[in-house]
Amino acid sequence: MCGIVGYIGKRDVAPLLLEGLQRLEYRGYDSAGVVITGKSGVLKTVKAKGRVRELEARIPKRFAGTTGIAHTRWATHGAPNDENAHPHLDAEGKVALVHNGIIDNADDLRAKLIADGVEFTSETDSEVVVHLIGRSQADTLEAKVQEALRRVEGTYGIAVMHQDFPDRIVVARNGSPVVLGIGDKEMFVASDVAALVSHTRQVVTLDDGEMATLKADDFRTYTTEGSSTSATPTTVEWEAESYDMGGHDTYMHKEISEQPDAVDRVLRGRIDDRFSTVHLGGLNLDPREARSVRRIKILGCGTSYHAGQIGAQMIEELARIPSDAEPASEFRYRNPVVDPDTLYIAVSQSGETYDVLAAVQELKRKGARVLGVVNVVGSAIARETDGGVYVHAGPEVCVVSTKCFTNTVVAFALLALHLGRIRDLSVADGKRIIAGLRKLPAQIAEMLEGEAEIEKLAAEYAGAKSMMFIGRVRGYPVAREASLKLKEISYIHAEAYPASELKHGPLALIEPALPTVAIVPDDDLLDKNRAALEEIKARSGRILAVAHQVQEKADHTIVVPKNEVELDPILMGIPLQLFAYHTAKAMGRDIDKPRNLAKSVTVE
Ligand code: F6R
Repeated sequence: MCGIVGYIGKRDVAPLLLEGLQRLEYRGYDSAGVVITGKSGVLKTVKAKGRVRELEARIPKRFAGTTGIAHTRWATHGAPNDENAHPHLDAEGKVALVHNGIIDNADDLRAKLIADGVEFTSETDSEVVVHLIGRSQADTLEAKVQEALRRVEGTYGIAVMHQDFPDRIVVARNGSPVVLGIGDKEMFVASDVAALVSHTRQVVTLDDGEMATLKADDFRTYTTEGSSTSATPTTVEWEAESYDMGGHDTYMHKEISEQPDAVDRVLRGRIDDRFSTVHLGGLNLDPREARSVRRIKILGCGTSYHAGQIGAQMIEELARIPSDAEPASEFRYRNPVVDPDTLYIAVSQSGETYDVLAAVQELKRKGARVLGVVNVVGSAIARETDGGVYVHAGPEVCVVSTKCFTNTVVAFALLALHLGRIRDLSVADGKRIIAGLRKLPAQIAEMLEGEAEIEKLAAEYAGAKSMMFIGRVRGYPVAREASLKLKEISYIHAEAYPASELKHGPLALIEPALPTVAIVPDDDLLDKNRAALEEIKARSGRILAVAHQVQEKADHTIVVPKNEVELDPILMGIPLQLFAYHTAKAMGRDIDKPRNLAKSVTVE
């Protein structure tokens, strides 16, 4: 959430920063700004409400320099406007700061600074930090930043420039990602490798409580208390092209289309035919421990929570361990009983979602064992957990998650199979699930070929003001995820209900103007699901079914290929990603950047 990018070296900095901001725009897009050290040695700032292109249009012809920092914002404190856009400057205009995160004691600090005569120019929480740095009497920029951070409570990823120290950028991290990009006589900093990879794949990810000083040909890392830390650069796994749109009209479309390859990747090298199980190298859970687990609790937010719900069902079915999923954002505020026999699993695409990270930290503090099911390698949640499964979906740029949802569910299927085979799952069932998993990439590719049909259907439903999504047991989390996808990008109101609950209230809503999307797999609940369709039809409701065979009561059916029942949710969600995409497209929505949202929710 919010994007930071910075550069120090020999190249003209403004185009580099703008390119970095474009790549980070999915982290926030309500305003943007840039500051550079101009030729005269004075800081020059340009800010603009709106997208990076608005900022670009405002950059003057003479805006040359070789050091600068920039920001794209997702508003937390203060409306999206020019004043609240970052960078923020201190009273003398000598210090510039960009900040991601939230300063919890900003109101207190602001009141104290105002009492000391400081005039604020924005409503943001971030501005207090730049004034604290500007007023520090310490001798070095590093010491000024450290002194300011000692007074700050909250989360931050910051980058700071100072007119009197033009040879450096100082950065710090606490709860919001900061990555250094190590180039040849040039250094980069960003909140996400996406902004760096086209220039360097050598990166250093800062830990919480860590800072760094970047100079053109050198960097060093240390703690906010001043002790040196060791930082060995690692190589980013993905090529720069993986972050491009690759000929698609949106990242969402690209990422939906990538799913056959992505699923192939999460399976690759993990299946063990000899013992009809899977190897999960990073799990860090020996068979004795796995057998002693009495309960599994899965924590995630949004789409990752839905993937966790499916995962919990898979683990219960295949490993017979009582399991459930809960939004991490709820769990962490309700003083839950932390049971030593429970295994906790944190799920996150970005590995940075603050609510999930905070839940993990609270669990660890209470001595729980926490695993991660995470996409971004080396992310905060991946590092904080005791082990886990990487989902290998590759970079996901679109704000709404698609391929990562699918890969996360597949990763849970692997985990469920692994735990099942350590416990009671038979060899025959292990073989059956493995065969099913192997079929997935081709079946997904087959479904994607039906896109034109789904596009036609989407055009029919795009006029709806509201839609109902229903499913039963395995189908219910699929309905929830499909409903979330539709509302996020089309802004059509959508509700998801267990089909079994229709009669207990929501049936009152059914009328011709409220279409229902029904998940109807050929499983032991087929008749029950068909009965729900009858009930809807009897009230003149329109129905779009996602099923293994054409449903007579439905107005339209999207037929999906059959696999093992336990794996049905993986396939049934995919056409509904395309449905959401084409509905939003038919309505002219900005699919990759839905209003009010941003990827990687690194604030509470
Ligand atoms: C919806 C979506 C969000 C994220 C949620 C958690 O399409 O993408 O609901 O799933 O913000 O993000 P991660 O998985 O990064 O923890």
